Amino acid sequence: MKSQSINFDARENTTGVDDLFIQRWSPRAFEKTSIDDATLTRILEAARWSPSCFNAQPWRIYTSTEESFDDCLNLLVEGNQSWAKDNAVIGFIVAEKNFEHNGKPNSFAPFDCGAAWMSLTLQARLEGLYTHGMGGIKVEEVAQYLNIDTEQSEVVMGFTIGKLADLSQLSDEQQANETPNSRKPLTEIWRKV
Ligand SMILES: Cc1cc2nc3c(=O)[nH]c(=O)nc-3n(C[C@H](O)[C@H](O)[C@H](O)COP(=O)(O)O)c2cc1C
Repeated sequence: MKSQSINFDARENTTGVDDLFIQRWSPRAFEKTSIDDATLTRILEAARWSPSCFNAQPWRIYTSTEESFDDCLNLLVEGNQSWAKDNAVIGFIVAEKNFEHNGKPNSFAPFDCGAAWMSLTLQARLEGLYTHGMGGIKVEEVAQYLNIDTEQSEVVMGFTIGKLADLSQLSDEQQANETPNSRKPLTEIWRKV
């Protein structure tokens, strides 16, 4: 799955965790392609099987079509538009705020959307594609465009799905920016209590 020119120096696999986790990253250099419906369906199906509090499945996932792509691109902040334009799909994840079974607020809804996001991201990787999550979206305009009732639902994030560009075709500076980043050490985020 590792591609020729990606520099994974900052991501040494010291524990034997599956490379799927380490080699998922968020590029900005995409090459325009389309994603066939069966592939996109598998990516969304992965999200569908995510776990959620009370099995409420509060995620609602919207993806652009060829016709709506430019509209969706305009719903991103400018900095994100500059690289997102070369993706195949732009998506938005919306959380249902209340539990269906009792109408009470579901404080775990955005958290569960995160699980769905990661599932679809990993399936995209397994399909040879990359995703890039985005907080930088015009939330109110997204809600309007998707016809979301903001009393009931909350726009959580945007994302793209696309094909990684051939990095060897980028300038040195661009290539340096297209390098997977690192993480805090496990000792900082994990305590046995
Ligand atoms: C919820 C969320 C919001 C993000 N927002 C943006 C964004 O608006 N623009 C951007 O370029 N990257 C954005 N990112 C990408 C993160 O910067 C990136 O995931 C993080 O630096 C870790 O790098 P990696 O995904 O390459 O491992 C976002 C990621 C997530 C999960």
